[in-house]
Amino acid sequence: MSAAMSADLELPTAGRCPYRVVRNPHTVREVLHRPQDFSPANALLAVTPLSGQALRILQKARFALPPVLASNDTGTHAGIRKVVAGFFTPAKVAAMEPRIRGLARESAARAAQRLASEGSVDLVNTVAAHPPAVIMLEMLGLPVRDLPALKAWSLDSLELFWGWPDADRQLELAHSAADFYRWLRELVLESVASPDSGASPQPNLFNALALHGLSTPEICSLGYFLLIAGQETTTQLISTTLFRLAEGSRGISWGEATTALKARDLVRHVLATESSVPTWRRMANQDTFLDGRAVAAGEEILLELTGNHGFPWAESAEAQSADSEASDRPGPTPYGLAFGSGIHRCLGAKLAELEATVVVYETAAALKGVRLQDSNPDWIRLLSFQAPRTVVVEPG
Ligand code: HEM
Repeated sequence: MSAAMSADLELPTAGRCPYRVVRNPHTVREVLHRPQDFSPANALLAVTPLSGQALRILQKARFALPPVLASNDTGTHAGIRKVVAGFFTPAKVAAMEPRIRGLARESAARAAQRLASEGSVDLVNTVAAHPPAVIMLEMLGLPVRDLPALKAWSLDSLELFWGWPDADRQLELAHSAADFYRWLRELVLESVASPDSGASPQPNLFNALALHGLSTPEICSLGYFLLIAGQETTTQLISTTLFRLAEGSRGISWGEATTALKARDLVRHVLATESSVPTWRRMANQDTFLDGRAVAAGEEILLELTGNHGFPWAESAEAQSADSEASDRPGPTPYGLAFGSGIHRCLGAKLAELEATVVVYETAAALKGVRLQDSNPDWIRLLSFQAPRTVVVEPG
């Protein structure tokens, strides 16, 4: 079983924050730029330790998350990152814009139809959910299939690793993660065996990683992270942006979002104030100092990348005192930290921003003058992920 699944991480108990919380953007950036002192080895650890039963369910599916990319603090990271980055170069992202717009328009037209025929429509389901997943799979040279399952597995895996499920819920989520992993393993084996994805002269990502020397468990580990991170985070960014737009609470009206610049401004505002990935983790590699304060080897750190809706211990005394400069924190965290910084900075930042802007713009253009039907929906609130689960609108 991989380190990422070890059950011996200290269990966060009610009211006690197991992390040193760093809120000051300058200090957050410093941590991200000192990889020799602060490792991402804990980035994908389960926040709630997995029970023996949950581990057995995962083991049966051969589930393992050896460090490959986001949690890799060894010298192999740079080479693997280069292979993945080759699929998301600025030129490739820019070339996808017409395809993104086409998908966004189709989804928005479907949403408009449903609004007309049913009197309300959920924008998460109709416009935010699928375009990012289709685009990601196409850019990776992978077959676009089983999208509803991929979306459900993504949410379950985020909850399993970044949430606080009780014992029964953890087992349900472990079954879902095991199903996802089995599906993924088949896709990896199939993709490695047949590099030519048809339309693209480039080998698919999994084949490229095999050529780079990665083993099947390593490719599956990377795939498990990327197939979720590469689309669900963008879906969540679109969901929050559309929610705030329909709410009319961010100084940009529904009609104004039909200007590309205004749609982009709103996406950037959400990225700064309540991004879909508001926090990320690091751990101290060795005894060191941060802002003049000692940090012990092994200490886990929670970095606030953007504004957020809080986590269980956000208000606890420990969390408050963990950052010496918390009280001096400037307003919203600069949008520049929403995608991390340094050697692990998000490889999909440009793509995510483009997708969100285009989908918001096309949705605003297709659905004239809507308002929220449910102004208090259920939210995904996990340690490192946040978004409304539904954005149900009705004619304004
Ligand atoms: C709104 C959408 C997204 C947000 C907020 C987001 C945020 C992040 C954050 C905070 C990190 C950690 C950075 C660090 O440790 O310094 C990260 C890593 C990463 N993201 Fe994203 N991401 C998004 C979308 C995407 C997309 C669309 C892709 C790919 C198509 C992607 C691929 C990656 C990869 C590969 C890494 C790991 C990079 C490495 O460790 O070298 N992300 N992302």
